[in-house]
Parts: sequence; C-alpha cells; structure tokens
Amino acid sequence: MKWVGSKQGVLSAILARMAPPTGRYFEPMVGSGVVFLGLAPERAVLGDANAELVDCYRVIRDDVEALVRALDRHVNTREHFLAVRAQRPEDLPPVERAARFIFLNKTCFNGLYRVNAAGAFNVPYGGIAHANFRDAATLRRVSARLEGVSLRCADVAECVRDAGPGDLVYLDPPYFAAPRAEVRYRAQGFGVEGHERLAALFDDLDRRGCRVVLSNADAPEVRALYRGRVVEVLATRRPVNRDARARDGWRELLIRNYDDPPRSSPPAAPLAVATPSASAAQALDALVERFVEDLRGLAAELARQSIAKVAQTRRDDS
Ligand SMILES: C[S@@+](CC[C@H](N)C(=O)[O-])C[C@H]1O[C@@H](n2cnc3c(N)ncnc32)[C@H](O)[C@@H]1O
Repeated sequence: MKWVGSKQGVLSAILARMAPPTGRYFEPMVGSGVVFLGLAPERAVLGDANAELVDCYRVIRDDVEALVRALDRHVNTREHFLAVRAQRPEDLPPVERAARFIFLNKTCFNGLYRVNAAGAFNVPYGGIAHANFRDAATLRRVSARLEGVSLRCADVAECVRDAGPGDLVYLDPPYFAAPRAEVRYRAQGFGVEGHERLAALFDDLDRRGCRVVLSNADAPEVRALYRGRVVEVLATRRPVNRDARARDGWRELLIRNYDDPPRSSPPAAPLAVATPSASAAQALDALVERFVEDLRGLAAELARQSIAKVAQTRRDDS
C-alpha cells in the first residue's frame, strides 16, 4: 500500500542496520509494513493506531482468497470510487471493509489516508489508469509472511508492553513537524508531547534490554530528544507530498541504541515490486524510482563517510 511516511525510499539503508532478532520483532507503527516485509522476521508483533489498517492486515492474514475475490468486484472509475468512498466501513463485513480500504488506497490521490472530523475518508479520486488494486500474487505473499504474526490495534506503548531482552523494536512515528505544521499532526495525537513520550518509551525499551531503532525527521528538536544515541542521516525523497518539488532533498534520521556496522545485504529478499498483473508503465515507474532512491542513498553514504574522514583528519592534526 501507499502510505504517508512509507520507508520504501530508505528501506535498504534501514535493513542494512537491522538483523532479524533472536527474539521477536515489534513494529507498533507499522503503516504499509515495508520494513517488516523486507526484514521477514520469524516472530513478529505488528500494530498501528489505525483500526482499518490493522483490520485489513487481519483479513490479508486470515482470509486472503476471499479478499482477492472481493477486490475483483471493484472497478477503477470515478463513479465507483465515489460510491465506495461514501460507504461507512463499520457497516461492511471485514472482508469487504478490507477490500474497500485497499481499493481506496490504490485509486485515491497520492495514496493518502485522511479522514475528516467525522472520521470519514475524504481523499479525492486519483484518476490513475494503471492503479493496481487487484494484485493477488502480492497479497498472497504478504498473507504468507503474516502467518503467525500477532496484530494489535493499540497505542504504541501498549503494543510493545511485553517486549523484552532479545527483541528488536522499530519505531516510525508521524514525522516531527515544525510548530506551524504541527497543528495538523496534533489531530493524529503526535505533537511535541507525542514525540517526548516516544523518546521516553525508547529509553524504557532500552532499559528492558531491547534493540531499538527509530526513524524521524532531521530536526534539532529530534536530535535533542535522542542525544547520546547512534544517530545517522538518511537522504531520501519524501514519497507522499502534494508538491513534487517538496519531495526532493528530504533528510531523515535513523536512531539506534546499538552500534553495529551496516550490513552489505538485506536480511530477506523483498517482495517483488512489479507483479505479472502490473502494467509495464507501473513496473518502469517503480524501477526508476528505486534506482533514484538507491543513488540518493549511495550519495548520502559517501557524503557521510567523507565528513567523518575530514573530522578524523582534523582530530589527528590537532
Ligand atoms: C510514518 S507512519 C509509518 C510508516 C511505515 N513505517 C511505512 O513504511 O509505511 C506512522 C504510523 O503511525 C501510526 N500511529 C500514529 N500514532 C500512533 C500511536 N499513538 N500508536 C500507534 N500507531 C500510531 C499511524 O497510523 C501511521 O500508520
């Protein structure tokens, strides 16, 4: 799925800094789940505060064939999109609700999940001719990866309540935003206090013996919250933004409570991006996007290494 704050653009850099844990993998703000899918841990607990998202994962895990059939009944037209958007998800049985969620995600504008004050999905139609909402092969692969996974619709702290020694926890909150934009994020319960609470949870998980990894925007306030931790900058393209220019030059932080050197290959083969049912244009888009992201990642890594080298030379000289 497309998801605001998706880690697709920095996935290889994140996976290179994680190893499948000896214990369980916790991802309590799982969103589109790309990190979980890339890591492919044997035992996992996934969660999110978004109930529709978690319910959708439950259906993918437990009833994927019914979901594939339900998605087959949808068509990519503006009229159908508006009719489906007008449905109240709570009135639908779980499989239909999950199909509605995936259909709207794939055919709406920019893959945003946004609800109005009354909780109704209100993103306009995207008009993407090749929107691939009937990707049965990928759904089946995701279903297989979700087998045995515990899914929790809960606040982040509640989701990781039983994490302990040997467990790996990946935290990916809504990005910290400067005070003006913060007003928007407050509605999602993630203003400055949310980030302070999360930093306290990071410390708590550290004391409990977990390995903890956290992503966030590169802002002085975030750096201050995690002073003393291993902090790295990942350069990326902000994947969901109305203004294409604002997608470029985005920097985010990867923060850890351990300092293993990056691994050269990711722990698991990622799910295929292009499936036989995806159009050639979509597959090409995905390939180009990945190529550009990889180049950016490489450039950022080279810049980081040369800055470290210069700093070392200065230290040696003085
Ligand atoms: C930046 S997104 C995660 C993106 C994800 N890593 C990906 O690659 O798609 C943040 C997620 O946190 C969830 N969230 C926000 N507040 C939360 C809370 N208090 N507890 C749990 N999840 C929360 C949102 O619903 C959203 O899915």
